[in-house]
Amino acid sequence: MKVLHVAAEVYPLIKTGGLADVVAALPAAQAKQGADVRLLLPGFPAVMDAVQGARTVIEIGACFGALRVRLLLARMPGTGLPVYVVEAPYLYRRGGGPYQDSRGEEWPDNLQRFALLGWVAAHLAGQDADPEWIPDIVHAHDWHAAMACAYMAEHTATLAASVFTVHNLAFQGLFPARDWPMLGLASRLMSPAGLEFHGQLSFMKAGLKFADRVTTVSPNYAHEIATHEFGCGLDGVVRGRGADVSGILNGIDTELWNPATDPAIAACYDAERLQGKAACRRALQAELKLDVDEQATLLTVVSRLTSQKGLDLILAALQDLVAAGVQFAVQGTGEPALEAAFRMAQQAHPGRVHVYIGYDEARAHRLVAGADVIAVPSRFEPCGLTQLYGLRYGTLPLVRRVGGLADTVTDATPEALAQGRATGFSFDAATPAAFAVCVRRAVALRADAAAWRAMQATAMAQGLSWAGPARDYLRLYGDVVPAVR
Ligand code: ADP
Ligand code: GLC
Repeated sequence: MKVLHVAAEVYPLIKTGGLADVVAALPAAQAKQGADVRLLLPGFPAVMDAVQGARTVIEIGACFGALRVRLLLARMPGTGLPVYVVEAPYLYRRGGGPYQDSRGEEWPDNLQRFALLGWVAAHLAGQDADPEWIPDIVHAHDWHAAMACAYMAEHTATLAASVFTVHNLAFQGLFPARDWPMLGLASRLMSPAGLEFHGQLSFMKAGLKFADRVTTVSPNYAHEIATHEFGCGLDGVVRGRGADVSGILNGIDTELWNPATDPAIAACYDAERLQGKAACRRALQAELKLDVDEQATLLTVVSRLTSQKGLDLILAALQDLVAAGVQFAVQGTGEPALEAAFRMAQQAHPGRVHVYIGYDEARAHRLVAGADVIAVPSRFEPCGLTQLYGLRYGTLPLVRRVGGLADTVTDATPEALAQGRATGFSFDAATPAAFAVCVRRAVALRADAAAWRAMQATAMAQGLSWAGPARDYLRLYGDVVPAVR
């Protein structure tokens, strides 16, 4: 099975969120299972600098406003996986982020930048870009890659089937209808049955409408996006695809996130030998200038600071929880108002609240290893990875019961505790009070050292690797490939 993954991010080259982690780990897991896997990425500077042994596959020439576009084939550092890179300096070679400039403004030419990515994917799905390697499946991730599905559907020479994965329906790639001609697609597609969305054009719809199968990153999120509450205006489109939409739960890179071998943490540990975790905790409290307090329940957050993540619930409950002996270690970047509010919380509670506004992978490992609890109180969460890192490190997740959080954390109810199934804490209402009650439940349970250790052991025994999900995706590909061939 030949599989082409198309995405805008891949860890460690370019990452704004969990998408990059998935695009790094899933293809590698599929390759281990015998699939012939390649990636297709835009030629952002970080990608151009990091890939190895690049050679030109085809000179594409001028398109989407860029004068010189070339398709390169190289290898990913680390995994050695083959990676196609769209070299288009005019569109991709610039500072700032992949989607926004350094002030947080969307790049004004995102339509061209990501239409090009999908267009190249569609050509790879036929014979004209690289006749030596034609995928059976084009697997497009999020709106950045979604146009691949529309171009493939329109392109008569397409030899591959398409799978589109929704990592986050809230980011849709919406552009003004007047930009339609730049896409080079038949005008009948600029209709509600195609890419039109309330008078704009939507890249997300290209994936939802035209992919042979649509997946989301957890089964629960697949149900949620068919509802008005979580559908971001696209629930009708999702429902229209019926059984073509399914959810496959993300895994994590269990080598990169392994407390038994993690080079970033103060002391390594596993479920049988948790002394190392206590050392990580003390080291973290010292590093963050938190009181080295054995009694405090140390709660961490590693997150984008955006309204999706529900961190305002933490801010509103923080004062009372600090008074109840909870310590907070927060790391994130995002909306200026949230950054400022967390900075103020730190000033107000020296020794009890530490806030780091910034992005730092090694530091994230130390927070996850050293904390007692990792909080993810999201308003919505397609899957969520940090609660999985928490499970792996015996740092019990405390989550709102939505999306993938509901699929991955078993609340410590009396029954679940008695049956040895509990792995964390969850709550329903998106209110500071519900969050605070949940934290107090965790604090109370932590007083029972044996029960806490038992939960840690259950959490750490969860099978979180990509082996299962990688196989599930391969099975799904198998279902659609014969439809094309
Ligand atoms: P999302 O993709 O919605 O941001 P996920 O939980 O799927 O949420 O993935 C977030 C990823 O980004 C995780 O790997 C997490 O560790 C990482 N991350 C988020 N913020 C930071 C930060 N400030 N420093 C280091 N890693 C971060
Ligand atoms: C998105 C979602 C997150 C998910 C990640 C990887 O960024 O917000 O929940 O874990 O994609 O699939």
